[in-house]
Amino acid sequence: MNEKYLLGIDIGTSGTKTVLFTADGTALASYTGEYPLYQPVNGYAEQEPSDWWKAVCDGTRAVITKSGINPHEIAGVGLSGQMHGLVMLDSDGTVLRKSIIWCDQRTAAECDEITSRVGAERLMEITANPALTGFTASKILWVRNNEPDIYGKCRHILLPKDYIRYILTGEFATEVSDASGMQLLDIKNRCWSDEVLDKLEIERSLLGKMYESPEITGVISKIAEEKTGLAAGTPVVGGAGDNAAAAVGTGVVRDSAAFTTIGTSGVLFAHSSRFAVDKSGRFHTFCCAVPGEWHMMGVTQAAGLSLKWFKDNFCNEENILAQDSGEDVYALVDRMAETIPIGSDKLLYLPYLMGERTPHLDADARGVFFGLSARHTKSHLLRSIMEGISYSMRDCLEVFAENGISFENMTVCGGGGKSRFWRQMLSDVYACPCDTVLSGEGPALGAALLAGVGTGIYSTVHEACDCAVKHGPAQQPDAASHEEYMKFYAVFKDIYPALKPLYKELSHI
Ligand code: XUL
Repeated sequence: MNEKYLLGIDIGTSGTKTVLFTADGTALASYTGEYPLYQPVNGYAEQEPSDWWKAVCDGTRAVITKSGINPHEIAGVGLSGQMHGLVMLDSDGTVLRKSIIWCDQRTAAECDEITSRVGAERLMEITANPALTGFTASKILWVRNNEPDIYGKCRHILLPKDYIRYILTGEFATEVSDASGMQLLDIKNRCWSDEVLDKLEIERSLLGKMYESPEITGVISKIAEEKTGLAAGTPVVGGAGDNAAAAVGTGVVRDSAAFTTIGTSGVLFAHSSRFAVDKSGRFHTFCCAVPGEWHMMGVTQAAGLSLKWFKDNFCNEENILAQDSGEDVYALVDRMAETIPIGSDKLLYLPYLMGERTPHLDADARGVFFGLSARHTKSHLLRSIMEGISYSMRDCLEVFAENGISFENMTVCGGGGKSRFWRQMLSDVYACPCDTVLSGEGPALGAALLAGVGTGIYSTVHEACDCAVKHGPAQQPDAASHEEYMKFYAVFKDIYPALKPLYKELSHI
């Protein structure tokens, strides 16, 4: 049988996207299965791994049916997913508790514990990041400290996409890009750090076998064949964390290339063939999906999440209208925001609904509308949310600039990247041309291309990107708009420092 298709599965926060591609990166069929985010306590964020698995099974069956292909023609499967989430399994491979996911902020005490056990300097040297609430290590310690019975039964610790790999193949495995976000990896040497594991008293046997992103980690099992419709024996490659996979899907695989993704989180991502860290830890340095290379990324926790939160809670009319007309509700939101001038009539939004990473590293930070007046309408609030996210992405850009990392142009992707209006806003706020890729499949395409490399369709990640990733024309920044945005950005930058002590006070009530 001639194997000519590649499958990319991206286990995201709002849903799992499964896309079937031809080997040259053309999407043949796509399916998204959504699921809930549980927030039982302010600052907590959990998901049910069985929801991810159901979405994967629905997705694989749907794309096979829609495309009408024979599953034996799929050369390989690539996995991508939300990073940092903690999945704990017992000795039978049964999930022990809901997954504590990337944007959960409960682990401030465990971060202090990590810093004191490993030492702040050693932690930076080995894991290239300070102890962060978002990362997996502090979540592991939280379960050990707060749910000792569960910790006692735990025999395997996996990231979200690696849990899916386990059910698909029976293998306990991970790869360097996603493992970088666990805070247990020696980022420079691309292997588990025995020193960090020993100091945190975490058994190495709990962790999966390490691969580079394009390597084959196992094959679809007979049991998984029955559930997914995929053919037993189909290779599954390492894949990548969602941002490293998006880099492959947008062709950001060489020095000086960068992208901004506005998904649930907002990420500014730059490729680097050289290992370098921000001394104060305001951006992450992780292994990337190109074997032997790295990337830097700044993260805004609640980017698309802010807009989704507002849409879900306050845009009932628009949701109904969109449903009736079959239009995407975010296109409607764009049109509403476009009617409002730059600066939203002096309304500013801080997108810190789930704490913030770059540049504040503050789990206690929360969202703010600043400057609200009786003149403001829903459209003002919508525009100010988009502007606040864009300013927060500019914060990331400024931290990069301080470290000597700059770009001549930027690719914008994720849900926000689909909006021409938002791409122009980012171009004006960054003062940098912004383009987007013709395939909107980002991480799923990246994961599929990694499967293409692992199964020999392409010889390198670079070759895969050169063949399959196509960019549209760039939107140019407008100098007058940039100047106008910068007046509001200056105020935006001063709001967080003014509120910092109050955030602490609020968190202690
Ligand atoms: C990256 C991060 C998020 C998640 C969810 O560090 O936490 O981007 O990967 O998309």
